[in-house]
Amino acid sequence: MSMTRSLVIDNLHVAYGKADVLCGVSLEIAPSRITCLLGANGAGKSTLIRALLGLTPAHEGSIVFEGQDILGLPPHKIVGLGISCIPEGRRIFPRMSVEENLLMGAYKEKDHKKIQERLARIYDMYPRLLDRREQLAGTMSGGEQAMVSIGRGLMNNPSLLVIDEPSLGLSPALVNDNFRVIRRICEQGTAVFLVEQNVRQTLAIAHFGYVLAQGRVVASGSAEDLRNSAEVQKAYFG
Ligand SMILES: Nc1ncnc2c1ncn2[C@@H]1O[C@H](COP(=O)(O)OP(=O)(O)O)[C@@H](O)[C@H]1O
Ligand SMILES: [Mg+2]
Repeated sequence: MSMTRSLVIDNLHVAYGKADVLCGVSLEIAPSRITCLLGANGAGKSTLIRALLGLTPAHEGSIVFEGQDILGLPPHKIVGLGISCIPEGRRIFPRMSVEENLLMGAYKEKDHKKIQERLARIYDMYPRLLDRREQLAGTMSGGEQAMVSIGRGLMNNPSLLVIDEPSLGLSPALVNDNFRVIRRICEQGTAVFLVEQNVRQTLAIAHFGYVLAQGRVVASGSAEDLRNSAEVQKAYFG
């Protein structure tokens, strides 16, 4: 089945109690491309991810992944369909080794050979993690923990990787390294949904993007369009 779209969100409404947080968000994620979601703190980015993963209920709208309606499915089913998420703050297991952390990402896979192939792919992408495979993840630097969290997400062999603010707390140089790998993951055929506040560096690697403000999409287009958009210029570049 050929897919022109990996994921389609249509008219999504989410509220916490009486507070509307997402007010009719529609967006599309293309296969084998990086689609970014930009927006200031509090715009509703993480809420959108939580709804997409089935962690927060939506009261209106639809979310279709590879042709299947996933809204209302429990999170483990959604992950099982091939969506991996690297949450805000990374959430590695600090008292487990790097390799144990990675293996947690493949907990559903029973085929030992496949697990070893996926590990090899991640160590190829991040040689640093191979050197540190026995080290307790909690004792690693922020940049290394970011590698562990992305590696763990890839161990599920997702067709869509969702990453919530990977650059948070990293130096610009580490963000660059991290983003280079994200670009490579996409070139190897995984759709990436990159949620970020870091506009400049994100638009440098993304193909398409959306800008969220107060629960609404206020701009969208190619990364090139967004770099030149008055809306984005006004909101972010001053
Ligand atoms: N569990 C929650 N209960 C109530 N309000 C929340 C909850 N999580 C987030 N919010 C509110 O929803 C809005 C959007 O938050 P969030 O989705 O985390 O934004 P972002 O990820 O863009 O910073 C904010 O106003 C935030 O305070
Ligand atoms: Mg957030």
